[in-house]
Amino acid sequence: MNAPEIPTADRPDAPFYQPLGNEQALFEQAWRHGMPVLIKGPTGCGKTRFVQHMAHRLNLPLYTVACHDDLSAADLVGRHLIGAQGTWWQDGPLTRAVREGGICYLDEVVEARQDTAVVLHPLADDRRELFIERTGEALQAPPGFMLVVSYNPGYQNLLKGMKPSTRQRFVAMRFDYPPAAEEERIVANEAQVDAALAAQVVRLGQALRRLEQHDLEEVASTRLLIFTARMIRSGMTPRQACLACLAEPLSDDPQTVAALMDVVDVHFG
Ligand SMILES: Nc1ncnc2c1ncn2[C@@H]1O[C@H](COP(=O)(O)OP(=O)(O)O)[C@@H](O)[C@H]1O
Ligand SMILES: [Mg+2]
Repeated sequence: MNAPEIPTADRPDAPFYQPLGNEQALFEQAWRHGMPVLIKGPTGCGKTRFVQHMAHRLNLPLYTVACHDDLSAADLVGRHLIGAQGTWWQDGPLTRAVREGGICYLDEVVEARQDTAVVLHPLADDRRELFIERTGEALQAPPGFMLVVSYNPGYQNLLKGMKPSTRQRFVAMRFDYPPAAEEERIVANEAQVDAALAAQVVRLGQALRRLEQHDLEEVASTRLLIFTARMIRSGMTPRQACLACLAEPLSDDPQTVAALMDVVDVHFG
């Protein structure tokens, strides 16, 4: 396969992405080599934003699919629909990405039904082929096409892990919440707040993440810190913003919420 040319440098409208390591170079090289990429990381840590950013940088159409436990191969590939003129074929997002040589991004891929593996496997290895069973069409993916999948290893249970035969087809990258300096830049940019407020919100976020005695299912995400900063910017008191955007989203247990608010009061008291 010929390595595709990278069409343009950063386009001015690429969504803001704060790099945290070599992830951009790794993704770009994977794309050039026609390799699929797997991104694992907790919710709200920047996986989707990263893929959006890279699609812009590489000037590729992006088809994003939020996977759920009812998502089947037909949802990805396409199906026959019945209209006034009779039946017609409608491409699914995966087929469209293959035809256009773009990125198909399957978010929370471990949720999808097992029959999706049948269409993903031949696309994710050297064959780079999509076979559309219903129409008998076999598509060879053009050089630009890239399959990207993500999942949250925290949600994983034994039944839902990705099969080794699937995951061994991917270049894998681990994402996590950013270090404080980078997270401050992200919060300042995304919430349009000054550096001092961003730093304060991030310090609180990092303190909340260190609280291990509470059995929270998840820790405060970068997304929630951005929400909090936005609410403060628009005039809510820090305490109101932290309750609505951090403590309540993280727990249903009133005692845990109160304990989280104690930490808030230390930072914004
Ligand atoms: N590295 C980053 N650069 C820019 N924005 C980021 C970054 N990480 C997180 N964000 C912000 O956090 C929000 C949530 O990230 P998202 O990509 O939706 O998370 P995920 O897909 O991992 O659940 C994004 O909308 C963006 O505002
Ligand atoms: Mg996402």
